[in-house]
Amino acid sequence: MASNKSTLSVFPPTLYAGKVALVTGGGSGICLGIATALVRHGASVAIVGRTQSKLESAKATIEAATSTTNKVLCIAADVRSFEAINAAVSATAAKFGRLDFVVCGAAGNFLCAAEDLSPNAFKTVVDIDLVGTFNTCKAALPLLKLSKGAIINITATLQYKGTLLMAHACAAKAGVDALTRVLALEWGQYGIRVNAIAPGPIDDTTGMTKLMPSGARDLILSAIPLRRMGTVRDIEFTTLYLFSDAASLVTGAIEVVDGGEWLASPMAIVSSLDAAGMQADVQKKRADYNASKKNASKL
Ligand SMILES: NC(=O)c1ccc[n+]([C@@H]2O[C@H](COP(=O)([O-])OP(=O)(O)OC[C@H]3O[C@@H](n4cnc5c(N)ncnc54)[C@H](OP(=O)(O)O)[C@@H]3O)[C@@H](O)[C@H]2O)c1
Repeated sequence: MASNKSTLSVFPPTLYAGKVALVTGGGSGICLGIATALVRHGASVAIVGRTQSKLESAKATIEAATSTTNKVLCIAADVRSFEAINAAVSATAAKFGRLDFVVCGAAGNFLCAAEDLSPNAFKTVVDIDLVGTFNTCKAALPLLKLSKGAIINITATLQYKGTLLMAHACAAKAGVDALTRVLALEWGQYGIRVNAIAPGPIDDTTGMTKLMPSGARDLILSAIPLRRMGTVRDIEFTTLYLFSDAASLVTGAIEVVDGGEWLASPMAIVSSLDAAGMQADVQKKRADYNASKKNASKL
């Protein structure tokens, strides 16, 4: 079974020494993990969210985990406001002198049937996830042109098949995917790479705690070909790779990190659970068919 239990990073600890990142949504969950991983590998990071106290506590978490000080800047800003995120980008440059990497991870989500969803609730999620991603990328562009930097947008896999009770998030993340591809096309000329990471279900995150129906864990696990939920660490490693020179020709990619979950159809799940049984069944059917043909030709 695949595992990411190793606590050792395969990346050198100085990989991002001297580099500066801005991470929206960096006050919690997956993006806090990403911010921590970047600092652990030498970068300075501005973390952006709406709640100052949450950011301060995230900063303490990062500093404790990485034994560093003065490498994290907390900026309270709402990504729905271009002015606010533009000011956050300026504050990052004022503190650290440059900007190399941007992670757009700020997002909102909840379960609601489209029939019961108010237009305002739908718009709010699109505004945070999609408009917020556009605002952040656009605000960062002048500094990324100078550094020939890179962007990673955090999307999802919900939108690939459509997910019940998440019309708002599916629509918003489909827009993030499209935006990622277009920005990769338009900004390649500046040496800026624009990619996305699409996490599957990630254990111990607000997203999963809030959105996973109780008792669904085993069912979800049985539907994942690699038979484990994702961890924040899986997304950290993919981020470290995509920002590194190892990915210097990779742009416009949407890197799915889900253990194969979204690809799996009920047929795929049944076949992987009982591959031997399925094979025996198919062989028997073929033998029956051949026998019936033989009998028919004798008539
Ligand atoms: N968890 C999963 O299994 C999963 C799966 C697929 C994709 N994802 C994606 O991964 C990312 C992180 O998810 P997570 O589960 O780790 O969520 P999370 O802990 O809820 O993180 C979301 C962050 O965004 C910030 N935020 C929300 N609205 C904002 C706004 N208007 N302006 C600025 N910041 C805002 C929140 O802080 P404030 O509330 O303080 O602003 C929070 O820190 C999201 O893009 C999510 O869609 C997660």
